[in-house]
Order: sequence, then C-alpha cells, then structure tokens
Amino acid sequence: MQRVLSGIQPSGIPTLGNYLGAIRNWVPMQDDHECLFCVVDLHAITAVFQEPEVLRRQTREMAAALIACGIDPDRCTLFVQSHVHAHHRLAWIFNNVVRMGWLNRMTQFKDKAGKDRENVSAGLFIYPALMAADILVYKATKVPVGDDQKQHLELTNDIAQKFNHDYGVDYFPQVEALIQGVAARVMSLRDGTKKMSKSDPSDQSRINLTDDADTIANKIKRAKTDPEPLPEHVSGLEGRPEARNLVGILAAITGTTPEGVLREHGGQGFGSFKGVLTDALVSHLEPIQKRMQHLLTDPNALDLLLRKGADRASSIADPIADEVERMVGFLPRR
Ligand code: AMP
Ligand code: TRP
Repeated sequence: MQRVLSGIQPSGIPTLGNYLGAIRNWVPMQDDHECLFCVVDLHAITAVFQEPEVLRRQTREMAAALIACGIDPDRCTLFVQSHVHAHHRLAWIFNNVVRMGWLNRMTQFKDKAGKDRENVSAGLFIYPALMAADILVYKATKVPVGDDQKQHLELTNDIAQKFNHDYGVDYFPQVEALIQGVAARVMSLRDGTKKMSKSDPSDQSRINLTDDADTIANKIKRAKTDPEPLPEHVSGLEGRPEARNLVGILAAITGTTPEGVLREHGGQGFGSFKGVLTDALVSHLEPIQKRMQHLLTDPNALDLLLRKGADRASSIADPIADEVERMVGFLPRR
C-alpha cells in the first residue's frame, strides 16, 4: 500500500480553501492508502509570531477540524508535527542538502517575505527543507495538497535526489504531488487573483469552516463580482477571476463541474446565484461545525488521540531518521 502524507498549519481556523484544496481530498485516501496527516506546528511559527496560548488552542482546533471533516484517527495516523522529533532531525540534515539558490526561487517565500526580506525569520526561508523532511521521514510517496504547494514538492524531489547522489545511496523515493479537484486553488472573496488564506488580514476575504450561516451569507453577499451575468460556458469565465472562483466553489461543494454549474445557472445575475451558493455552503458546513464543537468540549480526549497518533508516527519515522543519520556519518548512540 502506498504511503500518503500531508500537513496543515495551525495558524488559524481552516478556510474553505484548505477544505476544498486539501482536507476534503484526504478523506477518501484513507480507504486505500496508508495515510499520515499532521498538524504542522513547527511550520506555524515561521511566518509571524504566534502567542503560545493561541498556538496551543489552534493546534487542537485544527486537529478537531480535521476529524470533523472525516479524517478518522482509527484509519489513519493523525498527529502533531512537533511531537515526532524525527522531523527536526531530518530537517537539519536537509538544511545542509538544500542550496540557497533553490530556496531563493521559492515563490511562497517571496510572497510571504514581501519587501521585508531582511526582517523575516530564517525559519521562513528554510521552511521547504522542513516540509521535505515531513514527507521523506516516512518515505511517503504521495502528497495531496493544494496547487500552491507544487513548487515545494518539486524541491522535495530535488532534495531527495541530491541526498541520494551525495551519499551514494538509493534511499529516498521520489514523491508525487496530488493536486485534485475543481477547487485546487480557491481564491480570496475580495480579490479573485489572490489565494484565499487563513492569514489574510481581512476576514471578509475568506470563509472559515466555523463561520455561522449569517456570516457566510454576509461574506458571500459582499464577495467581489463583476456586472455581467454568469456565462453559459466555462470559456466565458476567461478574464473573470471572481466569477470563476464562485462557480468553482459551488461546483466543488455540490460535487459537479464548473460546466455543470453554468448549465444550471448560466445567464443568471450574481444576486440569485449568491443565494444558491450561500445555501449550499451553509448546509455543507453545518454538520462539520457541529462535530468540531463537540470534539472541542473534551480536549483531554483529543490530546490522547494525538498522543497515540504521534507514537504511531514515531514508530515509522524514528528508524528512518536513525538510518539516515548513520548514512551521514553521525556516530550511533548505541
Ligand atoms: P496551509 O493553510 O498553508 O497550511 O495549507 C494547508 C493545505 O491547504 C495545503 O495543502 C494547501 O495547498 C491547501 N490550501 C491552502 N490555501 C488554499 C486555497 N486557497 N485553495 C486551495 N488549497 C489551499
Ligand atoms: N507547507 C504546507 C502549506 O503551507 C504545509 C505542509 C507542511 C505540508 N509540511 C507538509 C503539506 C508536508 C504536505 C506535506 O500548505
């Protein structure tokens, strides 16, 4: 059975982008793959300062959200990244395999650092090496992610290849990015050219998985659109990023295609279309929210699940980290 790994940062409430681009695609993989899913708290401290209490809360919230969305701790390994020390160990080695030039090309770093490159953390710069370690410390070969992570996975393969070459081994496998669905990149509700993100300063730009019906209605109502009615065909979405985004969201939520959505709603103005979209979102998210709230009423049970997940993850990752350290020439402790 192929091994799958993916991760998500506990840097806020998961958005509709996280859900449609990633989490939702993880769920069916549990049926026919060995799956590992981690809440990547080591990554969450790279971009902006996280208040310790908030980080702790958001880590539990993210775990609860994943379970509520259908990630089943009995059928996969769900854990918190920092609990499995093998990630840190392999990441350090990879920091010395990856080249500055490779990291300098990462568009996510450029986006996140913006004009303030001198003042961002070194962790933000080396983040892709940690991500490579997250995957390769399990020798996972399939990684379901949103479209924005494609470049990081190409880098993961470069790191694996250089490691194998430098140490004269055929140890790390190549990994495959699984970028699935009509909503592999959900865009901001305020600007159809920017991706929807947990860290956007404007809450109006995103749907959070915990938003109630009124909030969703309000955000969709205020979502940016253009004055034209919806086109009859997908080709008519060309140059209309906001319309394309809303059509894509409805298609993803209702399990159809953008073409299918336009067959039904083409020619309609945004007023009535937004009503349909709101209803679909509310009825899809409501049961998830209820499950999430219920899980958060018992943080001890949640912590116990995560501890078990970390033990299981460590039992795979520790021997791999030991083996890699031996290949590198670190003297074994025993
Ligand atoms: P992050 O929020 O950066 O931890 O991302 C977690 C997962 O969600 C990754 O697989 C991302 O590719 C995916 N993701 C994040 N934002 C979006 C978005 N706007 N559209 C689609 N997928 C996304
Ligand atoms: N970098 C990913 C993101 O921001 C999260 C992540 C960390 C990840 N480690 C990973 C995703 C390993 C897939 C596999 O979205």
